[in-house]
Amino acid sequence: MAKERTLSIVKPDATRRNLTEKINARFTARGLKIVAQKRLQLSRAEAEKFYAVHRERPFFSGLVTFMISGPVVVQVLEGENAIALNREIMGATDPAKAAPGTIRKDFAESIEANSVHGSDSAETAKREIAFFFPDI
Ligand code: CMP
Repeated sequence: MAKERTLSIVKPDATRRNLTEKINARFTARGLKIVAQKRLQLSRAEAEKFYAVHRERPFFSGLVTFMISGPVVVQVLEGENAIALNREIMGATDPAKAAPGTIRKDFAESIEANSVHGSDSAETAKREIAFFFPDI
């Protein structure tokens, strides 16, 4: 299995509840390294650009408003099979459908305020990492 990198975001519902350290512990316990990390406040334009792929979806406007409602922590996770492994650690998008022991099952408030984002493919990971960390 190849070493990969993936983009992770600790979302505003989680930073508001000071869950970043608990969430990071889930990643490191499963062998993922946090090789870059920064806390920032997204502007509306940045959030719209990051989620542009969802522009036509009915939840787009609510998603953008939520993502700028407080600080986020953006991070690059590295490890064997990091993209799929992170998705397993996060659990299903909808916390009601997430497996026990996953971040979203344990922490998410709703399908929108679902605590974390993770890249869904190698191509997406490359684009999303470059979006926040153009120099790594
Ligand atoms: P994320 O992995 O960040 O990718 C898109 C986000 O849109 C998703 O997590 C959810 O937080 C949010 N979202 C809000 N409503 C929905 C929905 N009905 N279906 C999918 N994603 C949704």
